[in-house]
Amino acid sequence: MNKPNIPKKILHWYDNNKRPLPWRRKNTKKQHEYFTLVSEFMLQQTQVKTVIPFFNRFVKKFPNLESLDRADESKVLKYWEGLGYYSRAKNLKRTANIIVTKYSGSLPKGIEKLKALPGIGEYTSRSILSIAHNKPYIPMDGNVERVLKRVLLLKNKDQISKENLIKKKTFFSNSKRSSDYAQAIMEIGALICKPLVPICTSCPLTIYCKAFKKKDFVINANKKLNKTKYFEARVHKHKNKYLLIKNKKFNFLKNLIIFPMDEIDKEKFQLSIDKKINIKLSNMNMKIIINENNNKKTIKNGFLLDKSNFSKFIIPSFTKKIFNSLPHLK
Ligand code: ADE
Repeated sequence: MNKPNIPKKILHWYDNNKRPLPWRRKNTKKQHEYFTLVSEFMLQQTQVKTVIPFFNRFVKKFPNLESLDRADESKVLKYWEGLGYYSRAKNLKRTANIIVTKYSGSLPKGIEKLKALPGIGEYTSRSILSIAHNKPYIPMDGNVERVLKRVLLLKNKDQISKENLIKKKTFFSNSKRSSDYAQAIMEIGALICKPLVPICTSCPLTIYCKAFKKKDFVINANKKLNKTKYFEARVHKHKNKYLLIKNKKFNFLKNLIIFPMDEIDKEKFQLSIDKKINIKLSNMNMKIIINENNNKKTIKNGFLLDKSNFSKFIIPSFTKKIFNSLPHLK
């Protein structure tokens, strides 16, 4: 295997095929850092095509770290509305404040300093070091992992363990164009080495790829299965107003507006004849009974919200999904 050719081939492919994503626009160094920070936070649990319009709106409203730092948190959350996982927005704002006050507005260049910032873990620190600072890191996201598993035909449990994948990452060696190189490998995963049907005829890595040689493209997942939990949501509607509550009770969707809700056991869920819906959060599958009634009711910390006022509040998509499942809308 002629390894020195790998970065050259990958970069050549990238130069000719990369998507014109808005955070890849040519910019000043400072703006490039800011665009990388915002996009990496948004992309943490969300797909590129969903992120694009949110990113454009967000950087138009908050064009740099300083404006984000000065903004009210509620405004920032409003511009995040619809992307979900709102703790990312709160952490991004806190991180902006630390960078402005402690690092004179420039993203730190050390991995430990980056990891100490709110919302920045192993993956995001590496993506910032490579993409924003052009340092020779390759962040391991789902796309990079898939390319690596296929090229080296990593199949069994030991081969696909996190530790082994990190070791095997050296397959990609590196390049002086570290920023483009990291994005290029992600891009091959996103555009070519697709989960179900890879487009091998367009891939710059086919001659090195063991999966291609064996025609075995099945990817073994090393992900833990999400837990299923059961809930009962109570929808109290009175004269077009809905009883809602700021969530202090559950660790997910913390401080966001939800319908009053309890966790229940599987048996109660199965026995119920009420309407049932499923909602997936990042780390949990929720099965929810929708218990509707029109009695006037008040609860501690609850408030009544008129349907027409929904747009004035930051309502998570979780709550909107429950609301949209109600029969009056059909
Ligand atoms: N996923 C995470 N970071 C990304 C980036 N910079 N470009 C495309 N997809 C990504």
